[in-house]
Amino acid sequence: MCKVEVWIIDHGSVNSEHHITFRKATIDDHQMLESWLQKPHVLENVPDESWGWETELLREPEWREMLIAELHGKPMGFLQIIDPALEETRYWGDVSKNLRAIDIWIGEEALVGKGYGTQMMKKAFDRCFSAPDVTAIIIDPLASNERGIRFYQRLGFEFLRTEWFDGYECAVHKLTRQRWELLHNRKQTRH
Ligand SMILES: CC(C)(COP(=O)(O)OP(=O)(O)OC[C@H]1O[C@@H](n2cnc3c(N)ncnc32)[C@H](O)[C@@H]1OP(=O)(O)O)[C@@H](O)C(=O)NCCC(=O)NCCS
Repeated sequence: MCKVEVWIIDHGSVNSEHHITFRKATIDDHQMLESWLQKPHVLENVPDESWGWETELLREPEWREMLIAELHGKPMGFLQIIDPALEETRYWGDVSKNLRAIDIWIGEEALVGKGYGTQMMKKAFDRCFSAPDVTAIIIDPLASNERGIRFYQRLGFEFLRTEWFDGYECAVHKLTRQRWELLHNRKQTRH
């Protein structure tokens, strides 16, 4: 039997931060994640095919969190947070300690451009900077992903350099803790 998914979309803007929750991604999410990666709006901007879901969703290395974002309890996006200095393949090369790197996409194209990505990132910032030693978050959108870059810059990321990763030209950006505290009104008490 063919399963038909129906999304009821609120065409207004999202003004509450309570719609989105994160949960750990599990092996049961494998097919959904694969199907999201095949969607044109994701594929165009996240072309790397080496996610190895069958293996990776069964592992929980200390340097990584793979999260499913849910909107009212229904999966709609993916978020990965890594410690790039500890990541095993050394994707980020010779990178400093005390950073986090984020990957994000909204799998359901009907939900793109409605503010949910912004909410996901703000929650991700809180999660990353809740570790007191984390000094900054880095990201590597494709240099061609102009909308993605605009999205990140609106959140406070600053362009650092262009760099080639796995054959793709990327625009590396950084959000420092200081800038996050300032822009997102998140001044933390230091001990
Ligand atoms: C990037 C992404 C997570 C942003 O989430 P979002 O919920 O769409 O973004 P928001 O609604 O919070 O903010 C809107 C902004 O997102 C950016 N954006 C990026 N891709 C977009 C798309 N396909 N459609 C609409 N907005 C997009 C734009 O800057 C947009 O603002 P603009 O309309 O003024 O250009 C989401 O669009 C997405 O998953 N895109 C495809 C995958 C991707 O590019 N991932 C990032 C790889 S580094």
